[in-house]
Amino acid sequence: MITWPAAPVLSQFIVNNKPLFTGKRVLELGSGTGLCGIVAALIGAKVILTDSHSVRAKSDLLDLNVRLNGIIIALDDTIEDPDPKSLHICPLTWGRFTGVFFMIPTVDVIIASDCFYDPEDFEDILMTLAYFMTRNPETVFYTTYHVRNSSWNIECALKRWNLICECLHVDYEDDEPECDASQGHRSRSTIIIYKITREQRTD
Ligand SMILES: C[S@@+](CC[C@H](N)C(=O)[O-])C[C@H]1O[C@@H](n2cnc3c(N)ncnc32)[C@H](O)[C@@H]1O
Repeated sequence: MITWPAAPVLSQFIVNNKPLFTGKRVLELGSGTGLCGIVAALIGAKVILTDSHSVRAKSDLLDLNVRLNGIIIALDDTIEDPDPKSLHICPLTWGRFTGVFFMIPTVDVIIASDCFYDPEDFEDILMTLAYFMTRNPETVFYTTYHVRNSSWNIECALKRWNLICECLHVDYEDDEPECDASQGHRSRSTIIIYKITREQRTD
């Protein structure tokens, strides 16, 4: 029910790098309130927003945010050939290969902000990426990773799925001043922008 700090960081990256997104078919995983996907749609990407089946079943917030930004929510049967100024919203639970996985066309770009927050989900997210990158090996994944625990490492997990990552930017944000006062010191949160692609194999 909130927009997480990693979402504005990824949204700013999208705005600063329009040619990577404009006119491209973009799939967002774990959309939440939808900021990144909405921003991508507003700069001319063909966007499919997704969140888990359980969230889609009980929340209309994402749909409301899309409409408030003047974007039409298109019907499923136009997903292959979307109208401009529209986007699609689908339930997609990471690693659960239900019918929706097969309904989604090949995509150029996948985005996700702050989806690597529970190590128990890492494999399911990477399996989901690997599926879409097998269908289109040129697919590029951009994600913002909020560093919550220095012992977690997505870079190692990527190898198992023949995925490689590049750190594009590290964003340091001061926490809210009032939070800092209660801690007695200034603290900062770290958000990393990663680009993840399929490893090109020569064998
Ligand atoms: C920390 S929130 C980030 C939301 C949004 N991207 C943002 O940055 O504001 C994580 C999102 O992942 C979604 N999520 C959690 N588990 C999921 C799963 N197994 N499959 C798909 N989405 C999931 C949540 O519903 C939530 O929207």
